[in-house]
Amino acid sequence: MTWGTGRAVAMTDEEFRLLRDLITEYCGIYFADSFKYLIERRLQPRLPVHNLTSFRDYYRLLKYGSDRAKEFDEIVERVTTNETYFFREAYQLRAFTDEILPAVVKHKKPGDRIRIWSAGCSTGEEPYSLAMLTHDLPLTRGLPMEIFGNDISRKVLKTARSGLYRESSFRQTEPHWIDKHFTRDGRMFKLNEDIRNRVNFGHLNLMDEAAMAIMSNVDVIFCRNVIIYFANEARAALLDMFHKKLRPGGFLLLGHSESLINASTKFELVPLTHDIVYRRPR
Ligand SMILES: C[S@@+](CC[C@H](N)C(=O)[O-])C[C@H]1O[C@@H](n2cnc3c(N)ncnc32)[C@H](O)[C@@H]1O
Repeated sequence: MTWGTGRAVAMTDEEFRLLRDLITEYCGIYFADSFKYLIERRLQPRLPVHNLTSFRDYYRLLKYGSDRAKEFDEIVERVTTNETYFFREAYQLRAFTDEILPAVVKHKKPGDRIRIWSAGCSTGEEPYSLAMLTHDLPLTRGLPMEIFGNDISRKVLKTARSGLYRESSFRQTEPHWIDKHFTRDGRMFKLNEDIRNRVNFGHLNLMDEAAMAIMSNVDVIFCRNVIIYFANEARAALLDMFHKKLRPGGFLLLGHSESLINASTKFELVPLTHDIVYRRPR
């Protein structure tokens, strides 16, 4: 990307650190020094949009500009990793249906709600997998289930709400799920309405504690492959918040390469047959 004289605007080390810290403060995501060129490349196109000639001016705009919220939305679309697919980490989903849900149901009375939250849901494959898995499940009959999917990226939420997917979203999906819940439309697959209607999507920044007030008494939180990108302090703050949002006895499921080691001591470890998950003590 070039500007003015035809030369690309370079990002100094100091500008990188200022912008990096601002991004972490906003959404938790942390970039090590080795990511400087990636950030430079991804943010460079934003300079001409605002008639700016340096990243320092861009930093000022983000820090003090009246349109800073809108600009952070633009940054989010450039720096988040949105990789996901249906039935990701199947062993964990098996643990969810075979061991976690029965433990949740044990403490419910008829008519009680079960609340499941996919925090950092990307294009929706995770909460929709949960909706398919719990569709018609005899175990939860008589217990209304609410499934929430939240993400900071407005773009991924648009795809999630459309329910339209490409073949790559099914790399770990057994064909019977596709036959049962999708309608083929050329090269795309449309998720049927009965499953789509079971998931409530919303825009949410997990670092925004005030916005998070809408979420409470959650039975199971899936926050998989999200905190791996977070700074240590952001991770610790988020886990504290999850602890508050869970019912006592509620479960937290992280991605297979993520753990609470050094991040939180508030949860207890629960060994299951094929997985180890975290639980807010009763
Ligand atoms: C790699 S995807 C994981 C999707 C899904 N959980 C899975 O495991 O397949 C990570 C998602 O977290 C979202 N994310 C990152 N920071 C966030 C924040 N502060 N608040 C909400 N979502 C965030 C990203 O936009 C991205 O869609």
